[in-house]
Amino acid sequence: MSTAAWSDASITDLVNLAGKRAVVTGAAVGIGAAIATRLAQAGADVLLTDLDDRGEATAAGLRSGGLSASFQRCDITNTAHLAAAAQWAADRGSLDIWVNNAGIYPTTGPVLKVTDEFLDRMFDVNVRAQFSAAREAANRMSTGGAIVNLASIAGIRGGAGISAYSASKGAVIAMTRALGNELGPMGIRVNAIAPGIIDTPGVRAQMEPLKATGLDIDAAIAANPLRTAGQPDHIARACLFLVSGLSAFVNGVTLVVDGGATA
Ligand SMILES: NC(=O)c1ccc[n+]([C@@H]2O[C@H](COP(=O)([O-])OP(=O)(O)OC[C@H]3O[C@@H](n4cnc5c(N)ncnc54)[C@H](O)[C@@H]3O)[C@@H](O)[C@H]2O)c1
Repeated sequence: MSTAAWSDASITDLVNLAGKRAVVTGAAVGIGAAIATRLAQAGADVLLTDLDDRGEATAAGLRSGGLSASFQRCDITNTAHLAAAAQWAADRGSLDIWVNNAGIYPTTGPVLKVTDEFLDRMFDVNVRAQFSAAREAANRMSTGGAIVNLASIAGIRGGAGISAYSASKGAVIAMTRALGNELGPMGIRVNAIAPGIIDTPGVRAQMEPLKATGLDIDAAIAANPLRTAGQPDHIARACLFLVSGLSAFVNGVTLVVDGGATA
């Protein structure tokens, strides 16, 4: 495959997503909303999906800024919902970008007390649904497609009280490698982002319960080499890189975006 076309491209062209359609799961708030915003700013026609109908207001806010954004209610554990979201893009001409952002992180608690039901729920949302979504997306993508999965640094190193979450995000990293290998020959790149601690509604809701299990998020932020919590837009910028021409030869990797916490 020639890379000549890319070497001639300007920086602006490399990040320009005009004419592309993108689906972002869990896009009502937090990291998903930030990703949807950056992809729309880069010119993509973006479908924000979520269980939470506040996604409608998030999409409306983007439209009021002159961007292309729609909302569709989608529970990622429901394969028919995933197929409908992917089909939304296909019906408009092409599905080019799929961002598997939606995920849950209820506090696991001590490993000796983790129930099978808890594990099932964690893996159903964070692993099975992401896998099904990648399949539904890839089935409607062609050469040039890009899938980005939200993993976590918890999938790279362990932490007290988050064993089930860590295991689920480790699976996302393994899945990303496998799908990158398998879908690469179809011209579809699959990559993941492993965020560190990012200031979102989801994290804020877990701060106190996590403290009780021995993971102090405030202390972890204070110890970060950059001495700050990450913001959703830090992840959105990394995602823009992974779906754009800037990363044309990046496939199957997990990009750690954590301010150096795992360095
Ligand atoms: N915030 C962090 O510090 C951090 C760190 C590492 C990884 N992550 C990952 O990034 C992703 C986004 O995290 P966040 O902090 O923005 O989360 P959040 O809880 O603030 O937002 C998640 C969104 O996903 C939606 N969602 C949850 N379950 C869903 C389902 N079954 N179907 C559809 N939508 C669903 C929620 O309604 C919500 O709008 C998650 O996969 C998370 O594991 C976050």
